[in-house]
Amino acid sequence: MPPRTSVPPHRRLPLLVTADGDLLDDLLRLAAAGGVEVELAADPAAARSRWLPAPLVLLGCDQAEPCLRARLPRRARLVLVGRSGQLDPGWEVAQLIGAEHVATLPAAEPWLVDRFAECGPEGDDPGAVRITAVLGGRGGAGASILAGGLAVTAARAGLRTLLVDADPLGGGLDLVLGWEQLDGLRWPALTDADGRVDAPALVRALPSRGDLVVLSWDRGELLALPAQAMAATVDAARRGRDFVVVDLPRQLDDAAVTALQAADQAYVVVPAELRATAAAARVVATAAPHCTDLSVIVRGPAPGRLRAAEVARALGLPLAGTLRPEPGLARGLERGEAPAAAGRGPLAALCQRIVADLTGATAAGAA
Ligand SMILES: Nc1ncnc2c1ncn2[C@@H]1O[C@H](COP(=O)(O)OP(=O)(O)OP(=O)(O)O)[C@@H](O)[C@H]1O
Ligand SMILES: [Mg+2]
Repeated sequence: MPPRTSVPPHRRLPLLVTADGDLLDDLLRLAAAGGVEVELAADPAAARSRWLPAPLVLLGCDQAEPCLRARLPRRARLVLVGRSGQLDPGWEVAQLIGAEHVATLPAAEPWLVDRFAECGPEGDDPGAVRITAVLGGRGGAGASILAGGLAVTAARAGLRTLLVDADPLGGGLDLVLGWEQLDGLRWPALTDADGRVDAPALVRALPSRGDLVVLSWDRGELLALPAQAMAATVDAARRGRDFVVVDLPRQLDDAAVTALQAADQAYVVVPAELRATAAAARVVATAAPHCTDLSVIVRGPAPGRLRAAEVARALGLPLAGTLRPEPGLARGLERGEAPAAAGRGPLAALCQRIVADLTGATAAGAA
């Protein structure tokens, strides 16, 4: 793999998926002409963990059918590429795997150099955005409150933030912020969003305050969320936002899996109790295969004096943080106050640390 010099910490690299040495040589030459480094995968197994986070995927025609068979998820900015003569019937495979373009070499070389250049230091860098997913180890664990707190904190730090409600049974994340009266679209108006969503248009259409935009469920009829709608939203967010937080259901549906696969890191919130830890082990078993980086946040109180490190050890995951009991938080939520909005208290402090660790951004008023 080429060295990753001069890559800012959160910049993601384009992914090349091919086992064809000649095609790889061509693509590496074009990437160099576009001024970017790339990541390489010879087959779908090697590609899987980087498939959704990559800002651009070039799929060699030799690996198109293997990727289709391996059921790699649909994603935007996917280009099927091959040398002339290799690609028939390229369009059929391209359609099945959801490629946006078929690039035939050598004719498409200048076009590909431009695509690579868009991912470079001078480009609009759709890979720089941090996508964070939160899920609860058991019902009522505090996942939605943490998701809300992270989004509020990121916006306070000046990051253009999107909070995505991926839990159809959650009652609407706009309520967590006290935003239920705010105008703007909710999921039901966007669920046929299977194509590319225009990021600025999406952001303009959603309820917002300052730098925080929310894509929430409403209190209307229950609908299933198509994975494509989530994929299109994540792609739009990559181009239009700095920080994205997704609140996931514990029972992962296709849309939740899509979000989890796109996330740079995921947190499972677990109350410091024995039964909650046992329940969380089930949740972790279903979520972990889809995550590149999953860690635990343990929430007090601990009635049986279970320690956070013990919970994390039992789950076999790193401990990302702890939350002390904060009785005033639940009272504030009932009054329609957004979590962590005042920038004080255990939740706000944890959110500030996480946002600063992930992005380097510090909220106004943060210690
Ligand atoms: N950090 C916290 N401090 C104090 N209370 C909290 C905290 N987080 C959550 N709570 C309390 O727990 C309740 C449930 O929290 P939340 O809705 O975030 O859980 P969840 O894991 O998203 O649950 P669900 O299973 O419904 O998705 C809140 O309404 C609040 O009363
Ligand atoms: Mg929830």
